[in-house]
Amino acid sequence: MREPRIRLAELIASLSFAADLGMGYPMEQMLRASLVATRLAQHLRLPNEVVSDAYYIALLRHVGCTFGSWFLNVFAGGDDIAFRRRAAVVDHLDHADVGALFAYVGTLPGAKPDPTALPDLGEIWVGECEMGMSLAARLGLGSGVQRGMQLLWERWDGKGPRGNSGDDLPVSLRVARVALFAVESSALVGVDATLAALKRRAGGWFDPGIADTFVREADTLLGELPAATWDAVQDAEPQPWLWLLEQDVDRAARAIADMADLRAPFLHGHSAGVGALAERAARHLGLSDGELARIRRAANMHDIGRHGVPTGVWEKPDRLSDSEWEHVRLHPYYTERILARSPAFAALGALAGMHHERCDGSGYYRRATAGTLPMGARVIAAADAFQAMTEERPHRPARTPTDAAHELAKDMRAGHLDPDAGAAVCEAGGEVAPLIRRDWPAGLSDREVEVLRLVARGRSKREVADALTVSVNTVDTHVRHVYEKIGVSTRAGAAIFAMEHDLLRT
Ligand SMILES: [Fe+2]
Ligand SMILES: [Fe+2]
Repeated sequence: MREPRIRLAELIASLSFAADLGMGYPMEQMLRASLVATRLAQHLRLPNEVVSDAYYIALLRHVGCTFGSWFLNVFAGGDDIAFRRRAAVVDHLDHADVGALFAYVGTLPGAKPDPTALPDLGEIWVGECEMGMSLAARLGLGSGVQRGMQLLWERWDGKGPRGNSGDDLPVSLRVARVALFAVESSALVGVDATLAALKRRAGGWFDPGIADTFVREADTLLGELPAATWDAVQDAEPQPWLWLLEQDVDRAARAIADMADLRAPFLHGHSAGVGALAERAARHLGLSDGELARIRRAANMHDIGRHGVPTGVWEKPDRLSDSEWEHVRLHPYYTERILARSPAFAALGALAGMHHERCDGSGYYRRATAGTLPMGARVIAAADAFQAMTEERPHRPARTPTDAAHELAKDMRAGHLDPDAGAAVCEAGGEVAPLIRRDWPAGLSDREVEVLRLVARGRSKREVADALTVSVNTVDTHVRHVYEKIGVSTRAGAAIFAMEHDLLRT
């Protein structure tokens, strides 16, 4: 019997919806960018594997973009999504462009459009690239796509963060960048202004030959995109199609978990924690292996919808306003919709989308009641509540597992949580023993792992120094060694490594 397999394009296209939400774009914008990149690459008669790389790079373009959110919190007044919608098409070497962006930021409530409040863009860009590259690798994409993701912010003239230029940049990336700009910019300022900007930026940001071709052929390349975009994107993937094997679905779900948690440093490791806890609880309940797998996968992906809610809402230490609550209530809906279009992931998305529902109808977003909540949903809801309570949040410190169990018991007595599911989660939570390891990955020492954990949770070097009672210089040295050993150069890279290797869940 042949092993069941899933189109990788389905999964990546679904993740592009999360990226659309995080960028403040209409759904399917990245699908359209992928179609245009594919058309452009085919028009240039590039080899099939290059067309395929351009197709995937365009789809994945913004999956790493949430990494910079917490840096942008002050600058953009907490609305990183509004900021991103404009910033993605700004040429950072064009003063007029940058001035217009700052003027726009000045209209966002609570923003500080002051260059001194702007974080280190180089670190944000390289961080986004490291995140995108890592995600591409974990989802099973090849070295061409990974390399393209690594160099996303580089420019034809070599004035990007890493300084790669010209033909040094893969042609798939150069094609994808022009197509992405065309789609993203024309949605903001129209086609004519976009083509004028492409001409201006040819030879600077963009490959001049490819930009010229695009401008000449814009009617064909940008015009008449099919209304059934999802189907068109699935059909447009160049042969040979890429597949996800059944045995690789868990690896993909874990990568999606980590992508979801990059929304804020205090979330790092949350989704994978819910996945592990829900699975153990489901086992205590004696559920079948198939059900266990569904619960584990849905639990890992449950918070991917967080991308649609501005970072200022997640990071807020005070009481949320009614309108901020409305935002929060949407995130499980977004989770469901992000996964709904893929036949292979739709049922998991529906299960994941119930993680804030409560048996008595007091949850969100549907206010579903017990009769419509399968046991898997009840287990994930209890595991999510338990796991979140044991983690630090901006408005409260982390609780002990014992306190979390008491709180869960109250929710069970009040009828919010299913008593069997809640009890199984408490039992499973009691099994969470400190991880005792002799060998850390990449040859890290105990001290370096401590440093890595703090850095991955967004602490500044001064805060790490205070926590470990050492000097900032010592922390500097540790951080340099850690980065060298794990092969990254930004906090984003460090956070991803820490999550991927389960270093945050102890
Ligand atoms: Fe959630
Ligand atoms: Fe959650």
